[in-house]
Amino acid sequence: MDSEPLKNANLIQEESNRDFKDFQKKTSKKTIYIISGIILLVVIVTVVLVVLLTKPNDEDKPKPRSLLEKLKSKKTPYYYYNTTLLNQTIDEALRLANKDNIKIHFSLKSNFNEKIVKIFASHKEIGADCVSGGEVKYALKHFPPEKIVFAGIGKTDEEIEHAINNSIFCINVESFEELERLNDICNRLNKKTNFGVRINPNIEAHTHEKIITGSNENKFGIYIDEVKDKFYNKIEEIFFHKNANYKNLNFIGLHFHIGSQILNFTDFARLCAKIDKYVDELNERNISITYLNLGGGLGVDYDEPNLNPIPDFEGFFNTYLTNLTCLQKIGPDFNGGKNITLHFELGRSMIAQSGLLISKVIYVKEGIFKKFVILDAGMNDLIRPAMYNALHQIERVEPSNEQQMYDVVGPICESSDVFAKNYTMDVVEKDDYVIIRTAGAYGESMASRYNFRELPIGYLDFEL
Ligand code: LLP
Repeated sequence: MDSEPLKNANLIQEESNRDFKDFQKKTSKKTIYIISGIILLVVIVTVVLVVLLTKPNDEDKPKPRSLLEKLKSKKTPYYYYNTTLLNQTIDEALRLANKDNIKIHFSLKSNFNEKIVKIFASHKEIGADCVSGGEVKYALKHFPPEKIVFAGIGKTDEEIEHAINNSIFCINVESFEELERLNDICNRLNKKTNFGVRINPNIEAHTHEKIITGSNENKFGIYIDEVKDKFYNKIEEIFFHKNANYKNLNFIGLHFHIGSQILNFTDFARLCAKIDKYVDELNERNISITYLNLGGGLGVDYDEPNLNPIPDFEGFFNTYLTNLTCLQKIGPDFNGGKNITLHFELGRSMIAQSGLLISKVIYVKEGIFKKFVILDAGMNDLIRPAMYNALHQIERVEPSNEQQMYDVVGPICESSDVFAKNYTMDVVEKDDYVIIRTAGAYGESMASRYNFRELPIGYLDFEL
């Protein structure tokens, strides 16, 4: 009887305990929500602040530097290479060459700056053309031996031995004397080598007299027209190994290079007619060739570099492809199924327009009849004007409104240290920067320390 009210009291107590717990639960959840909300708010505010504070203000952004500012970052005179144009030039040459299985060997003599050579070597289709043992050693650091060719009229025993030992693709011999020497060295080393013969076809190319190489007035190649029988008999002896003494020599074909900076393509067409004759004469003796090396020679536009930044590779290759009838005659069925592959040794056309010589005006000197712009670059940096009367366009980096006629000269103690005579260009003053155009080929590679000057350094555009 008494227990009833007690039970009720307990129930009430339990209920109020439950309510209290619920209340506790609800309040702690609320607190958690509030605290989390505050934390979230703080985080958002902090993030927003950080973003706002660290967001680069347009004024703080590094402004792209002008060409002049870039050029000012290195000590003049120096060579500057436009890698965009260089890559476009290489791509265009390879696009056309690959279509017809033409092999390109970059002529190291035109530019052996290692950064430039690496760009060429990064294209697996491109090989190297060498004319000294030094160039062969250098080429072997960057190109596979089977893509290296080696010409030159005065190869020493050491140079020949090194080339044979490294199994380069082809040694182009330039005289009967060299041929015997090559054979002796092969026999002494007991090693085989491929060789080609450089022929002097007696073609006078239309170019500067100092860069003509294919007329019989000069020292290059074998004057085949004068010594026909001697030549073909020798090749026959070697090709068919009639003479066991020649067992290590493998005759693969002919090499030509009639000169450089040739813009008149009829010179190349005339060369083709001669080549066809030689190939026919070899075929008459059942000697087939697989290698026709046509050298370099393709000229560039020194007068209008902006109009023609990339030389006419298409016209150049097509001149050979259409004029060389031997290419059609020698098919897979001829003499053991061998085909001729065309090889070119391109120097100037690949790199000339991509290189500039950057220089600063030291003084503008008033002469009696003339004004002289005296640059800090001289003939030791770029010898082409002094050596071949070459005219490279000279431009003030930032155009000025007025023009003036000057003699633009270097500081070297030689009266031939002249870049341009009676040359009209933008008015310049002391400390102005000027660009000497089309200087990528035979510029840096022909620089010297004459007058005890520093050699110019070559920079790629992105290094500035
Ligand atoms: N192959 C042979 C065997 C050569 O003698 C030459 C250049 C070439 C290829 C490359 O020719 P290119 O594609 O560059 O025309 N220092 C002179 C140029 C001398 C060329 C010597 N031989 C100049 O600055 O004009």
